[in-house]
Amino acid sequence: MRVGVLTGGGDCPGLNAVIRAVVRKGVGMYGYDFIGFRDGWRGPLEGNGSALDVKSVRGILPRGGTILNSSRTNPLQVEGGVERIKDNLRNFRVEALIAIGGEDTLGVATKLHEQGLHVVGVPKTIDNDLGATDYTFGFDTAVNVAMEAIDRLHTTAESHRRALIVEVMGRHAGWIALHAGLAGGANIILIPEVPFDIEKVCSYIEHRFRTNYAPIVVVAEGAVPTGGDMILKDASRDAFGHVKLSGIGDWLAKEIEHRTGHEARCTVLGHIQRGGTPTAFDRVLATRFGLHAIEAVHDAAWGTMVALRGTNIVRVALCEATQELKTVDLARYSEAEVFFG
Ligand code: F6P
Repeated sequence: MRVGVLTGGGDCPGLNAVIRAVVRKGVGMYGYDFIGFRDGWRGPLEGNGSALDVKSVRGILPRGGTILNSSRTNPLQVEGGVERIKDNLRNFRVEALIAIGGEDTLGVATKLHEQGLHVVGVPKTIDNDLGATDYTFGFDTAVNVAMEAIDRLHTTAESHRRALIVEVMGRHAGWIALHAGLAGGANIILIPEVPFDIEKVCSYIEHRFRTNYAPIVVVAEGAVPTGGDMILKDASRDAFGHVKLSGIGDWLAKEIEHRTGHEARCTVLGHIQRGGTPTAFDRVLATRFGLHAIEAVHDAAWGTMVALRGTNIVRVALCEATQELKTVDLARYSEAEVFFG
């Protein structure tokens, strides 16, 4: 059998580990051959793919990014997009497709499965916001990057007696902020799920200075002040209709300076969280996802996605992954509140 592989949406550390595991097991155990499609859904849409063999996946386990490149192309927005994908898969003699992606990529995979394509999904995203899996790979690396940044910011914040704000990614879920904030000992963590009161934030800041420490605030890019709107630098949208988040960190720094009189600075971690080598946790999770995804292809389990439940990798319906965003619940957030102020 010939199997196609693609990586779509925002990249994250661990994508190459999935590709390697899929190809190694697919060639070694099942005798399959592979076509790697370029740039997410743009690859099958434009017929841009090439052979992926064991040699081409050598040495990629520790490498961040994706050897197949990625894009946020939405073929459902392209006239005749689904038919073009079907034709191109036929031309490449590809019988099954493994789509590695987040909410958007897997949403397209779900639609294509409904149209009869043989698709298996693998969940990825640093945001960890996919409903059907306990964790996505990429998240642990992003959290570790943010934690290390917070560790470093503590010392410079103390030297200058400043409030330092760290804006992290995560879109509309606060997982990165919550985990990095807890791991890095932040004094305040602000997440999209719980609108924040700026006066309360300032009173935590002042309390922290009174006790002779410099405060570190971790704010998720999607966090919103109570009664206010999302603060954005750029309101343009991608092909899936998402706005570019970021701006809340700078807004907070200004508000804090203005309201408390203490100097404040903001560090936006941005794409640093998505780059570089995956952690051991992400390499193992991504590798296991890849091994189970090719097994799902072998079992003709079309329309399924591999997922982590506890420590086991299971198969779930693809549509489950995109049905509901997995956000931080109040109980989890309350655990962290003990350390605020
Ligand atoms: O979904 C992953 C993510 O990194 C989000 O956390 C972030 O909001 C978005 O992608 C950034 O997208 P882009 O790379 O297109 O700027």
